[in-house]
Amino acid sequence: MSLKIVVTRRIPDPGLRILRDSGASVLILQNNPRAPVDRAALMSAVADADVLVALLTERIDDALLARAKRLRGVANFAVGYNNIDVDAATRLGIPVANTPGVLTETTADLTWALLLAIARRIPEAHNYMVRGEYQMWGPELFLGEDVGRGPDGEHRTLGIIGFGRIGQAVARRARGFDMRVVAFDPNMRDAIAASHDAEWSEFDDLLRQSDFVSLHALLTDETRHLIGERELRLMKQRAYLINVARGEMIDERVLVRALQEDWIAGAALDVYEREPAMAQGLAECRNAVFVPHIGSATHSTRNRMATMAATNAVAHLNVQQAPNPVNHAVYDSAAYRERIGRLAV
Ligand code: DGY
Repeated sequence: MSLKIVVTRRIPDPGLRILRDSGASVLILQNNPRAPVDRAALMSAVADADVLVALLTERIDDALLARAKRLRGVANFAVGYNNIDVDAATRLGIPVANTPGVLTETTADLTWALLLAIARRIPEAHNYMVRGEYQMWGPELFLGEDVGRGPDGEHRTLGIIGFGRIGQAVARRARGFDMRVVAFDPNMRDAIAASHDAEWSEFDDLLRQSDFVSLHALLTDETRHLIGERELRLMKQRAYLINVARGEMIDERVLVRALQEDWIAGAALDVYEREPAMAQGLAECRNAVFVPHIGSATHSTRNRMATMAATNAVAHLNVQQAPNPVNHAVYDSAAYRERIGRLAV
């Protein structure tokens, strides 16, 4: 009987080639890039799947994993894996892998694109041009804020929350803008202390002193709604909030009020609390810039994510340790041995 890899939604061709070359049959549940995966179809497909390749749009929860009696592993096409109940997978002896590292620089670039876009009002100015409204240059046309040192010679402060790979790459880029960088990440205190690109700041101090606050933490129970009313009110009125991490880190309904009532100068968002939906009123906020979760969206990065996810998937298929497991401990567990022991390999 041929082995079966279930891919929830189509991934780029370089990854699909690797999956097909494995000799397993490859079932793509959703080929339409704009359409979601039907939950019932996914529940039924995992029942006899040997490997699951998932996107961050699918909820791989306990109920789904419990049905997947033959599953040798899950390969997520993303570095973030908050869409997967990793604790449940570990308990059931199922290895989970992700695509770390590959999108660091690409996502840091987008952070800067958003930061510059909101500070210099690029989308507003672009729309003004394409609407044919540019009639006369004037000294007050689209005034924005300096990112680097302005004529006052003052350093602007960038506050980075989450100093993992992406946070660090964002900090490195700030050097070119001669910014002061402060960072908060309880798990990376030593790395921040050792860094030449950032100095440690307590969370509230970071919010109080930063001209730009950029989120790069992992989504966990501790970071869900990390930014709510208290935090937005601590920020400077002239400060901007940037989020390329996960939407649930911001209480989006409160952010709408903050933008409407000018508690802060603006926000630039790549991710949303109830993605793809946006909180009511958010789209109408003129002091904000929105893009549709494109942090890693370059040809080379997405192709590389596909090959990494597929390589992880094929390792699962062959009952080998995946190159990028997120629950390493599973390989030493009785649940894994029991699961693998049941397979005819
Ligand atoms: C990820 O990989 O976690 C990003 O959000 C999408 O590329």
